[in-house]
Amino acid sequence: MKITKICCIGAGYVGGPTMAVIAQKCPDIQVTVVDLNEQRIADWNDPNPDNIPIYEPGLSEIVAEARGRNLFFSTDVDKAIDEAEMIFISVNTPTKTYGKGRGMAADLKYIELCARQIARVAKQNKIVVEKSTLPVRTAEAIKSILDNTGNGVQFQILSNPEFLAEGTAVADLLNPDRILIGGDVTVEGQEAINALVDVYANWVDKDKILTTNVWSSELSKLTANAFLAQRISSINAMSELCEKTGADVNEVARAIGMDSRIGPKFLKASVGFGGSCFQKDILNLVYIAKSYGLNEVADYWEQVIIMNDHQKRRFSNKIVQTLYNTVADKKIAFLGWAFKKDTNDTRESAAIYIADDLINEQAKISVYDPKVSRVKMQADLNYLETRSEEGNNDSLDTFNNAYEACKGAHAVAVLTEWDEFRTYDWQKIYDSMHKPAFIFDGRNILDSKHLESIGFVYNGIGS
Ligand code: NAD
Ligand code: UGA
Repeated sequence: MKITKICCIGAGYVGGPTMAVIAQKCPDIQVTVVDLNEQRIADWNDPNPDNIPIYEPGLSEIVAEARGRNLFFSTDVDKAIDEAEMIFISVNTPTKTYGKGRGMAADLKYIELCARQIARVAKQNKIVVEKSTLPVRTAEAIKSILDNTGNGVQFQILSNPEFLAEGTAVADLLNPDRILIGGDVTVEGQEAINALVDVYANWVDKDKILTTNVWSSELSKLTANAFLAQRISSINAMSELCEKTGADVNEVARAIGMDSRIGPKFLKASVGFGGSCFQKDILNLVYIAKSYGLNEVADYWEQVIIMNDHQKRRFSNKIVQTLYNTVADKKIAFLGWAFKKDTNDTRESAAIYIADDLINEQAKISVYDPKVSRVKMQADLNYLETRSEEGNNDSLDTFNNAYEACKGAHAVAVLTEWDEFRTYDWQKIYDSMHKPAFIFDGRNILDSKHLESIGFVYNGIGS
């Protein structure tokens, strides 16, 4: 079966970039990305491609090339479902905030709504592709809804998890380590798998396209994120030990990373990992393990989160302790608010939690981030519901310029590893600060020797 029309439900960080790349690489396929959020769709359709709602290096160029040719963004979900032979579900699957599994399980209400809408609208056979990250065996629930509420047409469910990382989404999509497709072992299931393999084969080597059964595919996604996050928590755990013993975590990471069995990537000690997925997916994994009575498995993975929370708290405590046990009315300048460089995404960013801790200590936070707006930062703090919105407003100052943000500060904290921070005129920043001028480098990106020669008191992670 040759696919000519694709619909993707969900125009977010995954749906938008993924479909833009499919459209660019498959000019014969019409790709329509739909969303309930009218503003988001309007932003994707902004005549100036630089104003699309997601900042990813290289993305606006791809959108500019494909949009209006074979890439469309729309709020007409029914029409796009009706026309497409293949429907990707790429909606959000956040941690549940209510009821059974609150704070742990994945909230599947948006997934279920999509399944019901597809069932209601579809008048021809469809291939439904799970692109969202889902608990293992979710395909079973989707299938049951489709088969019991549909119009008697046939559905094939595939699992095709996404492994892109934000900030490198375009590069990851153009040149993926692998594409994973899980489907039924029946003849129809294999046909559906082949149809999706053919889409990716337009630009990905066939030997990088892995096909499995649905359950392996669903669980591989959670496993990959758990392993990645575990490496960060492991090196962060060692960073605390390094600080006590005189070892340097950068040197330790380098030494172990040269072991080809360990490998050098994902060993950067930090203020703690953020992002919308690591914590959510591990909590989901813990919940699934517990639901099968596998308490040791659940406890093992939960430690990754416990360690990460500890690392964030440790960083804010260190700032307070170093500043003579009080930051009340002191100005602490934050460089960076996004959860990593090259993205405007702030979900679960460590910066939010560090700011919240320091505001509890009555510090004044002044922030500069090259891609995050003040409105977003305020919303992130308000979402925690630690204090009134006015309280957050009064404690947060934001700047379009790092030098302004640091002027008159008692300390500078680096929360995101934006490249531009390395090349600042640090002498100028030092001259404008209170003395002693402290730096807390939560990403170990600055040149500590140079900063100390200027006169800064430098604190990195794990040294
Ligand atoms: P997102 O919140 O950026 O986007 C989801 C979009 O779906 C939103 O715009 C929302 O309005 C829309 N939506 C929700 N319900 C809808 C419905 N019924 N009909 C139409 N639109 C609907 O989320 P995201 O970051 O793109 O993540 C989506 C999924 O992909 C999640 O399961 C996530 O775990 C997974 N994932 C994310 C990343 C990442 O880097 N962000 C990477 C890999 C996998
Ligand atoms: C991560 C995975 O890398 C993707 O493969 C996956 O598809 C995605 O989650 C997802 O499922 O959402 P992402 O969260 O976008 O991608 O970004 P990462 O590069 O993994 O960084 C996550 C966090 O870990 C960031 O806060 C980053 O600063 C931190 N990190 C990363 C470290 O602290 N140290 C490292 O060595 C690497």
